[in-house]
Amino acid sequence: MMPQLRVYVPPHPLIKHWLAIARDAATPSVLFRSAMTELGRWLTYEAAREWLPTLETTVQSPLDSCPATLINPEIPVAVVPILRAGLGLLEGAQTLLPLASIYHLGLVRNEETLEPACYLNKLPEKFDPQTRVLITDPMLATGGSIMAAMAELTQRGVDPSLTRIVCVVAAPPALQKLSAAYPGLIVYTATIDETVNNKGYIVPGLGDAGDRTFGT
Ligand code: PRP
Ligand code: URA
Repeated sequence: MMPQLRVYVPPHPLIKHWLAIARDAATPSVLFRSAMTELGRWLTYEAAREWLPTLETTVQSPLDSCPATLINPEIPVAVVPILRAGLGLLEGAQTLLPLASIYHLGLVRNEETLEPACYLNKLPEKFDPQTRVLITDPMLATGGSIMAAMAELTQRGVDPSLTRIVCVVAAPPALQKLSAAYPGLIVYTATIDETVNNKGYIVPGLGDAGDRTFGT
């Protein structure tokens, strides 16, 4: 059977709580940032299952030696925040992945065409093909930005089946594009919303994630 895009919406009370705070138009920027941090943390926790590379070893407890599992330090782990809004999720992700390398990718949508333009690219020329990559971007709307990010990554050797996307609100157009192009990929999101309006905003969504994160 062909692999298919998998989209997980973890049924966790903390994720539901922070999503509700983020959606609320009355939430001030300082609290919105906390919501992004917490969503980044708990969605990364879920994404790390069967993704973070481990190794089997033994450790000596005060009483006896016993089998143990450790994170494998030999296999590179990378986080790619899509600026600006992806930075909001990064802090929470980093608390769980303190040794990961962070490669910033700055993309901004043209407000009329909704096409993304890249203004910062800190990706390495080539990734080790074993690299576990976690992309953070709270909004997958038309899918233009995430598809541009995936193209930059795969042309540098990233394996989509070792890649996880952590987002907050995913919309059908983006999920359809990802599914057609990257069937082995896995997305972790707090919600899948119904639609994208003619201005490119997810409805009901949470508004402009970058502006709300940075108070602009
Ligand atoms: C937002 C968001 C995504 C993109 C999603 O970024 O953070 O990157 O839009 O939209 P799409 O799926 O239609 O491409 P934006 O371009 O507004 O930049 P910002 O994060 O700097 O606000
Ligand atoms: N980007 C956002 O920040 N919000 C949306 O609803 C869509 C794209």
